[in-house]
Amino acid sequence: MVQMKKLFIVVFILLMSVFVMACSEDSGTDSANGTNSDDTENNNTNEENESASNDEEVTLVYARGVDTTGAIDLVIEAFEEKHPNINIEFREMPADTGQSHDQYVTMFSSMSSEVDVFDADVIWPAEFAQANYALELDRFIQRDGIDMDAYFPGTVAAANFNGKQWAMPKFTDAGMLYYRTDIVEEAPETWDDLIKQASELQGEQGTQFGYLMQAAQYEGLVCNYIEFIASYGGQVIDENNNIVVNSPETIKGLEKLAEIVNSDFVPDNILNFMETETENAWIAGDAVFARNWPYLQASSQDEERSSVVDKVDIAPLPAGDAGHAATLGGWMGMINRYTEHPEEAWEFLKFMTGEEGQKIIAVHGGRAPTLEALYDDPEVQEAGPLFSNPEFVKVLQSAVPRPVTPIYPEISDIMQIEISKFLTGDQTAEEAAQNMQTKMEAAMAE
Ligand code: GLC
Repeated sequence: MVQMKKLFIVVFILLMSVFVMACSEDSGTDSANGTNSDDTENNNTNEENESASNDEEVTLVYARGVDTTGAIDLVIEAFEEKHPNINIEFREMPADTGQSHDQYVTMFSSMSSEVDVFDADVIWPAEFAQANYALELDRFIQRDGIDMDAYFPGTVAAANFNGKQWAMPKFTDAGMLYYRTDIVEEAPETWDDLIKQASELQGEQGTQFGYLMQAAQYEGLVCNYIEFIASYGGQVIDENNNIVVNSPETIKGLEKLAEIVNSDFVPDNILNFMETETENAWIAGDAVFARNWPYLQASSQDEERSSVVDKVDIAPLPAGDAGHAATLGGWMGMINRYTEHPEEAWEFLKFMTGEEGQKIIAVHGGRAPTLEALYDDPEVQEAGPLFSNPEFVKVLQSAVPRPVTPIYPEISDIMQIEISKFLTGDQTAEEAAQNMQTKMEAAMAE
């Protein structure tokens, strides 16, 4: 167990150094453009209100996407018990990260204070920091002596932009393969093995489908796509910031993706599948294999909702010519720059992303903590067998970050559109790769 933890930490440090490099490159570029946050510091109109008294009743609005695990209610309950003067009103945002993103951008670009604290996808901090939507957290972190070294370094780096901390790491994600232990003898090693097993085993134990994945036109499709292309040795943007999305390797990955999407072992409406559709069909016992994030393990073991309790195990996603790959995901907590209650917002953020909050989220929500010490916690270990499973470490070992750039939403839209046009048969894999290359080059040149 201890060895596993060490390996986990080493893997994380290695993996996240990619993030650190990418972030520091971005910082340089943005300062060069003169758009660092110092230019806009005066915009923080609410900083004067910070000294709210402890007795004053305050209601904060906390927003995050749909949480099917219910863990967030428990975090709010535990926080309110400790802070009787702060009420948390929960605002549920769409399950689709892109839709949530767009709603936040609409809110924050009009300087709205309707949300105080919100969860941010790992792909947002660079953009939100540059657009000045979030409150810098350094002064709170320093004042309250928060030990940022207690978090996995890469998750801290992903929340840092222009040398400032804009978010607190909450949980980390990596794509993985779920399989039914009452049907599958050995998890597939390659995509071709998966295709073979999924078509042969579909129908066993009342299943309707061989494989479930996220193929709707949204961010989750990008995550699935990156796993395919990376397993064949393809990349979107390389270490030197060159766009390399049109290559024989990415085309191979795209073709394998289409072979699965067009097979008869996935649902007919797979092009509408996001994480929620995957989770619902999976816990209903409808599929032999599924691709999803770590939380699906907790859902699978949920006695109230799941009909596959104790029948599920995980493995790395199948390999292509170049090996196994998982997309790196995860979420952080941020404070709206225009909140009227920065002090109370910080108290809530600190609690949610601190040891107590993260523990509740790991134990009841199956989310992988970003606080290293929690991997030694017996309750976390017991609640999430994933966290002491060697396969999980393998998954993290191969996790691939998405491009780190303040124009990530544009880059992602280009991928979503071109991949979808290919999956619906409106263009070839070669055309999709070429179009992505041309459009991304134009977006980066702007
Ligand atoms: C998960 C990941 C997030 C990713 C999203 C895509 O929530 O944590 O990083 O963008 O899925 O649907």
